[in-house]
Amino acid sequence: MSNIQSLFSLHGKAAFISGASSGIGLHVAELMAAAGAKVVLAARRASLLEAHVERLRADGHDASCVPLDVTDPASIAQAWSQAESQVGGPIDILFNNAGVIYTERFLSQQAEDIDRVFDINFRGAFLLGQQAAKGMAERRNGSIINVVSTSGLRAGGYMTSYGASKAALISLTQSMALELAGKGVRVNALCPGNFRTDMHASFEEKGLEENLIKRIPMRRIGEVEQLDGATLLLASDAGSYMTGSVIVVDGGQVLSWM
Ligand SMILES: NC(=O)c1ccc[n+]([C@@H]2O[C@H](COP(=O)([O-])OP(=O)(O)OC[C@H]3O[C@@H](n4cnc5c(N)ncnc54)[C@H](OP(=O)(O)O)[C@@H]3O)[C@@H](O)[C@H]2O)c1
Repeated sequence: MSNIQSLFSLHGKAAFISGASSGIGLHVAELMAAAGAKVVLAARRASLLEAHVERLRADGHDASCVPLDVTDPASIAQAWSQAESQVGGPIDILFNNAGVIYTERFLSQQAEDIDRVFDINFRGAFLLGQQAAKGMAERRNGSIINVVSTSGLRAGGYMTSYGASKAALISLTQSMALELAGKGVRVNALCPGNFRTDMHASFEEKGLEENLIKRIPMRRIGEVEQLDGATLLLASDAGSYMTGSVIVVDGGQVLSWM
């Protein structure tokens, strides 16, 4: 029988969160710190990260930050080794979350924008996942959570490049899970629908939000706190027999017309 009090605890673990300067990544850094993990926040906007770390430390948490650009393999290697020095040991959890949106009609999309979306959402997540998995496989212990999107499961207007990049990341999650299961590394995907963050603001700006809400059976945009249960399940020992899963948290959106 599991100990219910400690089932979702992250005490004794260290977590690396990419894209932690805002939105879901920042919230998950706060969540994992509250669950007892040492957290390392990573992204490009260093001044934002420093302010978040200062606030987390003031609340009594063990937090630090590293600059990271996931499009640059050297930056990934440097950020990972700096993070391990900062936590004083190996990283147990990667929340592989850095990403960008690109909303444009298929016929108007430009090659450089398609490259940018794939460079960050797919190649960046691939390279950071690979960096994390090397040490985790050696130690035969680790959990990687790739942040995908319901756009990777269902077609949606304006979403050709973004949706394809997230569909590729779902496929990558499953292949990583298959290759790494025997090495003690779990790899799962967290699949949010629509959540109110800076990224979501682009839908509001384009006047797409009203129609979007009509297609969500629960008739509301998600709040980042509503990702907490699924995130802790995948990060903690509560999910110790889970790998290759794609956990959808979307108010029922994939059941409806996108
Ligand atoms: N909000 C939603 O409705 C929703 C739904 C489904 C999936 N998602 C996914 O959730 C993840 C987080 O998005 P969000 O909604 O929280 O949006 P957000 O607030 O815009 O966060 C995106 C994060 O990614 C980081 N980032 C972007 N490019 C980067 C790069 N080259 N290197 C390192 N970090 C980079 C940004 O930090 P810097 O700019 O400081 O580098 C930022 O912290 C994304 O993967 C997104 O696709 C979001």
